[in-house]
Amino acid sequence: MTSNVHLIDHPLVQHKLTLMRNKEASTNSFRRLLNELSTLMAYEVTRDMPMQEVEVETPLETTKAKVIDGKKLVFVSILRAGGGILDGMLSVVPGARVGHIGLYRDPKTLTAVEYYFKMPHSMHDRDVVIVDPMLATGNSAIAAVERIKELAPKSIKFVCLLTCPEGIRAMHTAHPDVPIYTAAIDRQLNEHGYILPGLGDAGDRIFGTK
Ligand code: URA
Repeated sequence: MTSNVHLIDHPLVQHKLTLMRNKEASTNSFRRLLNELSTLMAYEVTRDMPMQEVEVETPLETTKAKVIDGKKLVFVSILRAGGGILDGMLSVVPGARVGHIGLYRDPKTLTAVEYYFKMPHSMHDRDVVIVDPMLATGNSAIAAVERIKELAPKSIKFVCLLTCPEGIRAMHTAHPDVPIYTAAIDRQLNEHGYILPGLGDAGDRIFGTK
């Protein structure tokens, strides 16, 4: 079940996630922690980026050294909570391009309804990292991957903070080729589609809404 799932269990990631789970964490701390945690996750997610050797002149001599190869990476943020992860990722990959996909969860059916879609050009030449803090029912993630696949990018990864067995199963059934990067796999979903024990509504906690 956990094949193609990368659990990022670095102590700093786990520590920050625990602080975020606390219902007493302020909007300010929650946002800051999410930003820091996303920066750490970006490091793992970009580990296999292609490199090329270039010539560089140091103050002492000319040498060959590596730089990242190919077209700029694309982060696709699922609105609105994806923005919290996006900011942290952009702080370590500032040249990345950014796409947005607006999906809301129909509260009755829990299915994803698209209301916005804007992507960078030349998607077929790029690697894509889709970001959304919570992989719960998987409906939004699956719909987002489906839409991105229409643009035939070189690769797609999915990054979340938290997921659960139901979310992983749904995503793997629909898109077994898309690796999931997560900081934790929680116990289960409740009947309202929330992850237990989870951290509540990620969007509300990032933006201080209710
Ligand atoms: N979305 C959230 O924000 N929280 C959950 O627990 C599940 C989906």
